[in-house]
Amino acid sequence: MTPGHLQIVVCAAGPAPDVTTLINTAHEQSWTTAVTATPHATRFIDIPAIEELTGAPVRSDYRTSPGTRRSLPTADALVIAPATYNSINKIALGLADNYAMTTIAELIGRHVPTVIVPFVNTALATRHPYRRAVASLRDEGVHILLGPDHDWEPHPPGTGNDRRLTFPWTTAFHAAAALAEKAQPQK
Ligand SMILES: Cc1cc2nc3c(=O)[nH]c(=O)nc-3n(C[C@H](O)[C@H](O)[C@H](O)COP(=O)(O)O)c2cc1C
Repeated sequence: MTPGHLQIVVCAAGPAPDVTTLINTAHEQSWTTAVTATPHATRFIDIPAIEELTGAPVRSDYRTSPGTRRSLPTADALVIAPATYNSINKIALGLADNYAMTTIAELIGRHVPTVIVPFVNTALATRHPYRRAVASLRDEGVHILLGPDHDWEPHPPGTGNDRRLTFPWTTAFHAAAALAEKAQPQK
């Protein structure tokens, strides 16, 4: 597996604190990582611990230190996990109302291989807007880990804590790395 740089976007859902599993999995394969969080997700994660692990600031807004260029991250692959109902709907519509959404919109537009891992309950997952969002993103070439082929399904409301334990962090990394390899076979 060719190493690269993995951009991770975390949304405000139960498994968010476990994003360190994805970071560690990527590092074990010699990938570098950086984490961007939605504004709500900043309350779910241990930002200093993640910054220590990745060696990069956790970005959640457009503010930069004096003299620092305002730029969107470069990446060989993007993993959005856990992805909320809210964010999946916004991404499909192309909304860019915060730094994380802007980053995602631009990286998908640059054809950076992208994997989304939803953490959405069955009540929300039956909504037509959500189903349309998933279909639209797949149509755009985004890889969504969802459904029987991926052994990852929405959970009944109120069971998120149990389901959090089986969140497919490792599968998400390997899917992203495989897409990156396919996108740049010469690397
Ligand atoms: C404790 C807690 C757990 C939540 N878990 C989920 C979840 O598993 N999936 C989801 O789609 N939304 C969940 N939500 C709701 C989202 O946090 C909410 O829709 C938020 O606006 C999402 O923001 P974001 O998409 O910008 O991260 C949860 C909210 C709280 C307070």
